[in-house]
Amino acid sequence: MLPHITGFAAAMGQILFVLHSISGCQLLAPHGKPTARSERGTGGPVSKSSDVTPRHAGAATPQPKGSDSQAGAPPSAGAAPGSGPAMPTTNKPPVTPSPGNITTPGGLPSVDNPFATTRLFVNPDYAKSVAETAASAPNAAALGKLQQVSTAFWIDSTAKVTPLRTYLDAAHQAASSGGKIAVTLVVYNLPDRDCAAKASNGELQLSNNGEVQYQSYIDAIRGVLAQHSDLTIAIILEPDSLGNIVTNIGVAKCHDAQGAYERGVSYAIQTLAALPNVSIYLDAAHSGWLGWPSNRTGFATEVKKVLQMTDGRSAIRGFATNVANYSPLSVPAGATPTWYDPSNPARDELTYVQLLGQDLQNAGVNQVHFVIDTSRNGVIDSRQSWGSWCNIAASGLGVRPIVAPRADIATIDAYLWIKPPGESDGTSDGGATRFDATCAGSDAMTPAPEAGAWFGAYLIHAASKAQPPL
Ligand code: GLC
Repeated sequence: MLPHITGFAAAMGQILFVLHSISGCQLLAPHGKPTARSERGTGGPVSKSSDVTPRHAGAATPQPKGSDSQAGAPPSAGAAPGSGPAMPTTNKPPVTPSPGNITTPGGLPSVDNPFATTRLFVNPDYAKSVAETAASAPNAAALGKLQQVSTAFWIDSTAKVTPLRTYLDAAHQAASSGGKIAVTLVVYNLPDRDCAAKASNGELQLSNNGEVQYQSYIDAIRGVLAQHSDLTIAIILEPDSLGNIVTNIGVAKCHDAQGAYERGVSYAIQTLAALPNVSIYLDAAHSGWLGWPSNRTGFATEVKKVLQMTDGRSAIRGFATNVANYSPLSVPAGATPTWYDPSNPARDELTYVQLLGQDLQNAGVNQVHFVIDTSRNGVIDSRQSWGSWCNIAASGLGVRPIVAPRADIATIDAYLWIKPPGESDGTSDGGATRFDATCAGSDAMTPAPEAGAWFGAYLIHAASKAQPPL
């Protein structure tokens, strides 16, 4: 299948590893209208973290069970006010835009936004999986639109480095039709990965030379990226890593993995940021995990520590939030979703990225840019507990990928679909090695396959609840 590409055209590309942090901004929607924010109250402060440690959501604070009805979730809630039309999706070489044609609804990208004037590459394998599901789906037309939406390619094992090369070759081919191509990848293979959960435990173990193997994995990725210097490739660095150090150090596996996580992330930063066309985004969990003040400052301190472990020459860009999670971008004033926790001022992702940016700058971390995963956060009140993170049955696809979505929050480089919707968060098979009870919980869609495996039934449902609608 010819790779589809979407978005804007421009000249040369660059490979982006971006570590972003956020500067303070007004908590206002564009046009100055104050907006209230929702809250997701599971990742309580370290002092409050319980031993329930769902994946991507940090330590869960027991939440009152409530309905996961859509009450209080007005249809536009998932859309970031001021975000204009989603990126144009096309597989035709775009017209080279004049400055006026660059549709960055909130405003022009910051001058150093690596995504500026790029076309977001669509993973041909993802498009194929969607097409196969659409063939027997009641909402085939809606799913058809997804076949042109850019999603991330997850380098979740050493074996994925070879298909990574194929993938980037395809993106290079797409670039030959004109314009700068942006591709999103996820580096996700630390030893004892996903230490506070089971669903995404990885191939490398600390007990089996995992740290050395991780460095080889990073070196191999660098080798492939170095041969694709014409591309813009946004890579998200290690979901479930530093967030777990901040809130789940009480989990033995996380406690024992702390040093390896810190050394692995700093090695990845300095190895990959050394490439001239590379920028790094480090995973910063989400509002429902690190939104509480003590978690945010704890994370900022941890980031500062890891950056100081690098060679000091490592240019980083910012952070990725809400990777593979369901925390909403923005919730209207007065809406109190089931999981609302007034002790968490980071009511949603837009609030979180602004508050975290202030904390990071206070800690001396000055890289101030973000990408936010909006692939599955379209429905605000989609779960009874903030700690639910697995195949959320009531969730809906979110705002489509778009560059510089907010004029009032210029530090946000893009909304991206980092978790490819339709790929499972984890198996619901109680007899499986990587079974995590959250994936059989009351919020989860079952039966579900192993993490990363195709889960077409989920996609059909989530597409039918997309906000904005497909
Ligand atoms: C989960 C899985 C990983 C997969 C990713 C994207 O994190 O653990 O293997 O690639 O989701 O679906």
